[in-house]
Amino acid sequence: MNMPSIPLYIFGSSGHAREIAAYFRLLNAQRPIIFVDQKVESGDCVSVHEYRRRIQNGEPGESILGSGRCEVRRRMLAEMLPPYATIVHPSAVILGEIGPGCVIAPNAVIAPNARLDGHVLVNYNATVGHDTRVGMLSVIGPTSAIGGFCILEEGVYVGAGAVIRERLIIHAGAIVGMGAVVTRETLANSIVAGVPAREMEPRPGKRRWL
Ligand SMILES: CC(C)(COP(=O)(O)OP(=O)(O)OC[C@H]1O[C@@H](n2cnc3c(N)ncnc32)[C@H](O)[C@@H]1OP(=O)(O)O)[C@@H](O)C(=O)NCCC(=O)NCCS
Repeated sequence: MNMPSIPLYIFGSSGHAREIAAYFRLLNAQRPIIFVDQKVESGDCVSVHEYRRRIQNGEPGESILGSGRCEVRRRMLAEMLPPYATIVHPSAVILGEIGPGCVIAPNAVIAPNARLDGHVLVNYNATVGHDTRVGMLSVIGPTSAIGGFCILEEGVYVGAGAVIRERLIIHAGAIVGMGAVVTRETLANSIVAGVPAREMEPRPGKRRWL
């Protein structure tokens, strides 16, 4: 569909949001891009309040999450209004199904019969195996590989270069560390890392960049 003047609203204005803007410009050079951020308000950035006012007044616009951190993504989604954009870099290979609000970065592969729920981010060179299901708001890190017939529940974070063996369940909110080799089911909200991956000790109150 040709929608030259409908703006894309990207939530956030950090590095990841700017990356998404760059992919989008490759696909739709004509459409305006507006960042939505609580703090900054300038030429190409509006507050959440202003964004909601515009959309609720019936102004046209599509929206997308612009953060790679699950916790921030969840908060942003609560403020975002439909319709949602879906952005697939032209070099990505999509053989499965992807939900609204997904971002698929350069050279990512979504294998046949894989299914991504809404607002999933699949980063550079990552592979989602055949028949695998990825839950809403999950983030699949660059160069990671998820085997076939896996289930990643809602809000799972897979770090850069991690590998997940086929037919595993990664329960909601789990974090898989960068470079991990996951060979067993992973508990909800747990953090696993290493080769083979083991659960890390919880450290209450620790601020983590995720
Ligand atoms: C697993 C992870 C979430 C842990 O974060 P954290 O709780 O802040 O952990 P810390 O950095 O304090 O490290 C705690 C210990 O775990 C080790 N560790 C951290 N990450 C590890 C990993 N991925 N694999 C193996 N060991 C790891 C640290 O070396 C440290 O060991 P030490 O106590 O012996 O010094 C984080 O390291 C990680 O892998 N994040 C993903 C990053 C990523 O992929 N980013 C992609 C950006 S696109």
